[in-house]
Amino acid sequence: MPLVPMTAFLSKAKQEGFAVGQFNMNNLEFTQAIIEAGIEERSPLIFGASEGAIRYMGLNNVVALAKVAARESGLPVALHLDHGSSFEMVMKCIRAGFSSVMFDGSHYPLEENIRLTKKVVEAAHAVGVSVEGELGTIGGVEDDLDVADEDATLANPEEAIRFWEETQVDALAIAVGTAHGMYKGVPKIRFDIIEKVSKNIDVPIVLHGGSGVPDESITKSIALGVGKINVNTENQVACTKVIRDTLGANPEMIDPRKYLGPARTAIKEVVKEKMRLFGSSGKA
Ligand code: 13P
Repeated sequence: MPLVPMTAFLSKAKQEGFAVGQFNMNNLEFTQAIIEAGIEERSPLIFGASEGAIRYMGLNNVVALAKVAARESGLPVALHLDHGSSFEMVMKCIRAGFSSVMFDGSHYPLEENIRLTKKVVEAAHAVGVSVEGELGTIGGVEDDLDVADEDATLANPEEAIRFWEETQVDALAIAVGTAHGMYKGVPKIRFDIIEKVSKNIDVPIVLHGGSGVPDESITKSIALGVGKINVNTENQVACTKVIRDTLGANPEMIDPRKYLGPARTAIKEVVKEKMRLFGSSGKA
């Protein structure tokens, strides 16, 4: 199947009460692990590509890998820009073949965020590309983004509802207490904000910082209206642990396939578990 916009499965996700995972691509092995998990679970999926990952892999390589994975798997797969920082970057990705983009204007004042997001939505929707917007500031570190705990601000529900009404984004990321990277304690998720916003908008809410969130909190968030959940750190941890252990036990090993292969399997297992937890297994 060719790459699809997230709208191909997100309205069904909200109606039927499941969430589709966004799993970030960091290299070939991540891409293979994620798509193999999708095939085994018969799950729709979203490849996330951050600007840092695009710089690392090369824009055209990202698109080529995602397209091949989607075509060979036959699954509904979206290739989504994660935390796009500018209109120019969004356009560059759409032109290269992305089927979905996030424009992260959360650091701008509300009016400016609405104005810039609307501009992205107008251009993206004209060519069938879905858009995610963000309101509130999600804490933690992810590539170019580094938000200290004291600077993370939760989304205001009234503002979030207005943001959706005016921008018509296809998925809305709101800061509800999760953070990118690993948590020091247990994240305190504001389920009341999820519930209030979700009841008043037609599209699913996106939960960033999905790694390390307890299973019960994930299930509850989905029941209240979360339809897209982003996971990257848990895959990175699984990958790096296997590489560290393998090289530690075999210091003479030099063939990258010997340690990247098992790392790929470890990532696949994490992704499969998430697909089952999110309820997207069997929904492709
Ligand atoms: P994690 O760092 O919790 O995996 O979150 C990833 C993410 O939200 C990407 O946008």
